[in-house]
Amino acid sequence: MPVAKVALLTGITGQDGSYLAEYLLALGYEVHGVVRRSSLFNTQRIDHMYEDPHEGSAMRLHFGDLTDGVTLRRILEAVGPEEVYHLGAQSHVRVSFDMPEYTVESVALGTLRLLEAIRDVDRTGIRFYQAGSSEMFGAAPPPQSERTPFYPRSPYACAKVFAHHQVVNYREAYGMFAVNGILFNHESPRRGETFLTRKATRAATRIKLGLQFTLYLGNTRAKRDWGYAGDYVRAMHLMLQQDQPEDFVIATGSTHSVQEWVHAVFDRLGLDPADHVREDPRYFRPTEVDVLLGDASKARERLGWVPVVGFDELVDMMVTSDLRLAERERLLLEAGHREPPAIESRA
Ligand code: NAP
Ligand code: GDD
Repeated sequence: MPVAKVALLTGITGQDGSYLAEYLLALGYEVHGVVRRSSLFNTQRIDHMYEDPHEGSAMRLHFGDLTDGVTLRRILEAVGPEEVYHLGAQSHVRVSFDMPEYTVESVALGTLRLLEAIRDVDRTGIRFYQAGSSEMFGAAPPPQSERTPFYPRSPYACAKVFAHHQVVNYREAYGMFAVNGILFNHESPRRGETFLTRKATRAATRIKLGLQFTLYLGNTRAKRDWGYAGDYVRAMHLMLQQDQPEDFVIATGSTHSVQEWVHAVFDRLGLDPADHVREDPRYFRPTEVDVLLGDASKARERLGWVPVVGFDELVDMMVTSDLRLAERERLLLEAGHREPPAIESRA
């Protein structure tokens, strides 16, 4: 029987981490994840994969934090992974303007800490994936590809640019198999509720069921190249299976405005956004990224990667999932269980 490959994931409790863990487990990997300590459980997205470690679970979790290099190094030594997928980050762009120092600490220095730990533990044997972002292109005109110069427009994007260049430098300086995936926005029913797509599907489905009335948004003219997270984690894995370490843009190649997303969501529920969507200056960013539109032809040609889920299917998937959630919420409410949470006011 072939020996299972061992992978270590930071950010395993996040949207991408949960899909990637599922994907790797299905391929027969032993998956280890770094989980940060929280006063409430933060493992909802991966609970369905968790088995009692006393009974030989293929997924194991380790307490650690990107701000704590000593622990990252210890985990690396204990786990001995062949592949490291570095997905952990303070990943909210708007929040990065409120918390620039922590964002840089976790996103930029967190990546550097991991690279240094890998350099010490095993310079060439470990394959390293860095979760780069289309936000790095910022104000660079579309379409954006691997050849497009970065023009970051937020503390988050600046931190990702730093991490990107560190990865390239560790590759060149120490011969590490280290790659940057430059991923455009990708969404799913597991998307955090304060990101635009999910905020809209959560709100519209709750409005439909009478649990909420208004959806407050910021800039609805911005355009994004939105894909499905389940498709994008396949690309991460493919990048680490190549003969040579290289950076890849991953995108669908089509772009839609925030307004279009919101309309598509409300349409499916027979609702008119004009009755419910209001502007709130709190959600505008001091500097915005106006248009993201990726050119992923290198990934298509070299990795054979193409996205499967398109815009309409993505909207359907997220609306269907959030409608079920809202129905459950209403059921609990009708059973006198609790008041509906005031999620209207969240970022
Ligand atoms: P996400 O849902 O926000 O997940 C972020 C993960 O990082 C969570 O597991 C979070 O833990 C963890 N984390 C945050 N701060 C940490 C710290 N100080 N130490 C250790 N772990 C920490 O993000 P995602 O959408 O899955 O994105 C995954 C990665 O891809 C991120 O690096 C993001 O910046 C990048 N990216 C995302 C997209 C996208 O459209 N989704 C596009 C391009 C790049 P908790 O669960 O405890 O919060
Ligand atoms: N979150 C949010 N909330 N965004 C809003 C709102 C609102 O109320 N109103 C308008 N928007 C606009 C934002 O200004 C932005 O132009 C767009 O909707 C998408 O915002 P987000 O969903 O927060 O995503 P993002 O594009 O800023 O960042 C995401 O994608 C990046 C890749 O390009 C995140 O996942 C990043 O981690 C990722 O790197």
